[in-house]
Amino acid sequence: MTEPIIQTRHLSKLYGSGETVVRALHDVNLEVAPGEFLAVMGPSGCGKSTLLNMLGGLDQPSEGEVWVAGEDVAKLKDMDGFRARTVGFVFQLHNLLPTLTAQENVEVPMQGQKIGRGERHKRAVHLLELVGLGDRRGHLPSQLSGGQRQRVAIARSLANEPALILADEPTGALDSQSGEELLALLAQLNTSQGTTIVVVTHDRRVAQATGRILRMRDGQVVDDHRVDNPLEEDLRMLAHSQLGQALLGGNGQSSVGLLNGTEREVLRRLLTRFDDAPGEETPAEIGDLLEILGRDLR
Ligand SMILES: Nc1ncnc2c1ncn2[C@@H]1O[C@H](COP(=O)(O)OP(=O)(O)OP(=O)(O)O)[C@@H](O)[C@H]1O
Ligand SMILES: [Mg+2]
Repeated sequence: MTEPIIQTRHLSKLYGSGETVVRALHDVNLEVAPGEFLAVMGPSGCGKSTLLNMLGGLDQPSEGEVWVAGEDVAKLKDMDGFRARTVGFVFQLHNLLPTLTAQENVEVPMQGQKIGRGERHKRAVHLLELVGLGDRRGHLPSQLSGGQRQRVAIARSLANEPALILADEPTGALDSQSGEELLALLAQLNTSQGTTIVVVTHDRRVAQATGRILRMRDGQVVDDHRVDNPLEEDLRMLAHSQLGQALLGGNGQSSVGLLNGTEREVLRRLLTRFDDAPGEETPAEIGDLLEILGRDLR
């Protein structure tokens, strides 16, 4: 197997101490191969951002190790260089510098690298064109829309052609069209440049556009699987939703009573689709859910 670009070993993170200690990550063991496109999902507070911050060297583990591109992140001597060259960050609160133009913002990470001024300009222009903002180069962040600022942030994260992009809910603040465009851009980078991408998201469509979905709960990874069959993905999403959890938690007999008429109808259609195209191997949790739903609905 190729060397993983990301590897965590028994990674844990505690915040605070004593009575108020929060275990944000607990024994996370993760491997990501170069070129993977991975979505991280899970309820608010389950540790997604904490994990991303650890991967990017923005925060230190309490226990365990994080290896990125062959380096132990806790022992990096040149953290700035690592952040500038190896990892590109895209956060929801795109922290662009307000007094710099879009183009200047994109150039920031290239400063301090061995890249001449002319080359810096050229690359920034190219990157802004790539994200569809060739005509907004001279605009300040305050003169751009939220989606456009987000795209500038992406262009900036690509400035040094990082092997890895870490994106924390990049589509969260966008309308659905800008969100889709941004996602298409990430997918394109992944396929055309082989960039490894880890994206934290609450959005089912974003997750399903990736190649692998990691689910977290209470600081732990509770599910990790490759995306292949879209129907199975829908069922997995259902199994992990609050509704699915409620159904799975009940005794099955009365749980469908939780549903209103429309929900029942949607589930009935889902079951019919499943009858038409059963997966090779249905994961246990989904099998349980189907059985409960099938018993009550058919
Ligand atoms: N600096 C901090 N100090 C104390 N506790 C923290 C700190 N940062 C995060 N936490 C706690 O760690 C847990 C994980 O937080 P994290 O931000 O990783 O969650 P998340 O999965 O990204 O949630 P969301 O979907 O709401 O962004 C939470 O319980 C949070 O309250
Ligand atoms: Mg978060």
